[in-house]
Amino acid sequence: MNIGTPLTPSATRVMLLGSGELGKEVIIALQRLGVEVIAVDRYANAPGHQVAHRSHVIDMTDADALQALVALEKPHLIVPEIEALNTEVLARIEEQGLSTVVPTVKAVQLTMNREGIRRLAAETLSLPTSPYAFARSEQELQAAIDNGIGYPCFVKPTMSSSGKGQSRITSQDQVAKAWDYAASAGRVNQGVVIVEGQIAFDFEITLLTLRAKDSTGAIQTYFCEPIGHRQESGDYVESWQPQAMTSQALAEAQHIAKAVTDSLGGLGLFGVELFIKGDQVWFSEVSPRPHDTGMVTMASQRFNEFELHARAILGLPVDTRMLAPGASAVIYGGVDTDALVFEGLDAALRVPESDIRLFGKPESFVRRRMGVALATAPGVDEARARAHLAASLVKPREA
Ligand SMILES: Nc1ncnc2c1ncn2[C@@H]1O[C@H](COP(=O)(O)OP(=O)(O)OP(=O)(O)O)[C@@H](O)[C@H]1O
Ligand SMILES: [Mg+2]
Repeated sequence: MNIGTPLTPSATRVMLLGSGELGKEVIIALQRLGVEVIAVDRYANAPGHQVAHRSHVIDMTDADALQALVALEKPHLIVPEIEALNTEVLARIEEQGLSTVVPTVKAVQLTMNREGIRRLAAETLSLPTSPYAFARSEQELQAAIDNGIGYPCFVKPTMSSSGKGQSRITSQDQVAKAWDYAASAGRVNQGVVIVEGQIAFDFEITLLTLRAKDSTGAIQTYFCEPIGHRQESGDYVESWQPQAMTSQALAEAQHIAKAVTDSLGGLGLFGVELFIKGDQVWFSEVSPRPHDTGMVTMASQRFNEFELHARAILGLPVDTRMLAPGASAVIYGGVDTDALVFEGLDAALRVPESDIRLFGKPESFVRRRMGVALATAPGVDEARARAHLAASLVKPREA
């Protein structure tokens, strides 16, 4: 793999579609490798815009806008960071040989819709998942629950992320509300919901799975140490690495992750979400890109998940080694404002082996993720306590 000189005709150009906190870190990793980076988001001054060579604001679900921007910038690689994209345009761009979509257009298409990825995992690959059904009306939803899914269950829009539109329900009187919430909160494909039976897991993990070239040029699958995490209303609040698990569960988790990512194909890092109970493992979902719970790797690994993604997509060698147990804890805005100030950084950064990332989002909401605290320690419990303490010492307020 040759890398050219940014801002000259020899440049290796990568376009990020979506430039939030995860895209920002991918951009920084690419910048360090001398790549010319174009950051795209739907609003101005997104985190990734602030560290790219050029930035654009477009509606990425708009076919004409996306097509025109790719024609203008001529990126060698297109790296989706979000799910809400016009994937038909991406397919056309790739067919015409204008650019390569990371990891593949198929992966982006299948994973943006819970129906696509669930049917692939459960029906095509016969991997264990929660029991599930799709419903196109409240009546269908009720029937699916009555005919086998049962309570408690999770009702989710087929097109959504970060817990949006999702509810966990325990009885029949909650079905109507869950239907309305899911049907109204989903993107694009409104009106189709998935209902999943609850898996009574001991814990859940993200298995960062990397498809990258080995020394012979063949694509190999590499795994990071499993990441444990805690979700509140479908949004992650803390994560840690490694998550202890039985060797049988780890082998099964890796088997499932390899099967899914082999099928999605391409080069790059995937966040495979799995539920674990003893030696048993269920596939939940997968992101064909760095995962929010994987931010812990900014503290714990030799190369963090963003650097691994950058290296893999460029066809460069990777190293998934963990150096120390680590943890991450989310810092929320806590207030609705476009003039946020973070107090307490001094105290937070005095926590041993801690670090902070502030994403630089121009607008804060009470439950918007504005930063993350990171920490390492000799053990996971201590790392979690440190990350939690550091996050709690950061006090966002309106200027
Ligand atoms: N079938 C299930 N059984 C048990 N827990 C579940 C189930 N489905 C979802 N959950 C819980 O809800 C969380 C969010 O669900 P899911 O990952 O499907 O939604 P999401 O909107 O994609 O969230 P994110 O974008 O943060 O990954 C899971 O991590 C898990 O904690
Ligand atoms: Mg999830």
